[in-house]
Amino acid sequence: MTTADTALRDERQDEFDALIAADQRIEPRDWMPEAYRRTLIRQISQHAHSEIIGMQPEGSWITRAPSLKRKAILMAKVQDEAGHGLYLYSAAQTLGITRDEMTAQLIDGRAKYSSIFTYPTPTWADMGAIGWLVDGAAICNQVPLCRASYGPYGRAMVRICKEESFHQRQGFEILLTLMRGTDAQREMAQDAVDRWYWPSLQMFGPPDEASPNSAQSMAWKIKRFSNDELRQRFIGMLVPQAEVLGVRLPDPELRWDDAAGRWHTGEIDWDAFAEVLAGRGPLNAERLRHRREAHEDGAWVREAAAAYAAKKRAEQTATTTPEHDPASDPLPREAVAS
Ligand SMILES: [Fe+2]
Ligand SMILES: [Fe+2]
Repeated sequence: MTTADTALRDERQDEFDALIAADQRIEPRDWMPEAYRRTLIRQISQHAHSEIIGMQPEGSWITRAPSLKRKAILMAKVQDEAGHGLYLYSAAQTLGITRDEMTAQLIDGRAKYSSIFTYPTPTWADMGAIGWLVDGAAICNQVPLCRASYGPYGRAMVRICKEESFHQRQGFEILLTLMRGTDAQREMAQDAVDRWYWPSLQMFGPPDEASPNSAQSMAWKIKRFSNDELRQRFIGMLVPQAEVLGVRLPDPELRWDDAAGRWHTGEIDWDAFAEVLAGRGPLNAERLRHRREAHEDGAWVREAAAAYAAKKRAEQTATTTPEHDPASDPLPREAVAS
């Protein structure tokens, strides 16, 4: 590298640092350090994969939801998650990775996605617990991401968060209805909360002292709060809501520690979390198999779309070549241009 190159690099790094310090956004055409780009690609693509894989545990209940209204709501929710995946894949693409590469990473099992979606959903109450706890944890994690320093990511998160808050309320409302029902329905709701509570706490990631990438992400203002801070905020949100619902949070040690100014919780099982992350979660193989099959089944749609785009491109080139005779044009030029 020549001295001039180094000087240019330093100048760009200074500009980048100044934008971050001033809480300004980094946009796709701005220079950015390679590590910042790589971190964002990893985080945003994992986030996108989680949205797409996250459609499965609830998708399996669409046909079994207890009423037409519940089906319609659940279908809208699952569809929202597909939309979240699309916004996020698009945001990741602005960093120079293609959608095909991201899809390949997911279906070959190289990419990670949120550990929570490998758990099974045996009862209808799981739809309530997922909405209340999983979407609730997602909101706590994601609201600060609306201010992430990378523009396309932050903007995608604004819309996602609005939809997540609808998801959380619909989950809460499913649980509330069950809790006002029969003994069997109350037991079903409590059982679902018992199964989803601890995994939802793990969604914030390992404790701060065991989260090596967090400090750099915070310095880059991608992440605004630490894992433990967000987990604490989430528990603070759940406790009064659990009271309204009449469900018990399955942690006998849970209490507000006034002296420490934080929630004291029982031990979180990080070994179980590591197992799930390593691809050994209860339904990990099943989720990936389903995703892979859906991708293969959709091959004809992608081929048809590509053929259609190629045909349109050819038509456009034909109408814009100088030797083309406008009299033989099947469509008026303005129609083609629009
Ligand atoms: Fe989502
Ligand atoms: Fe959601």
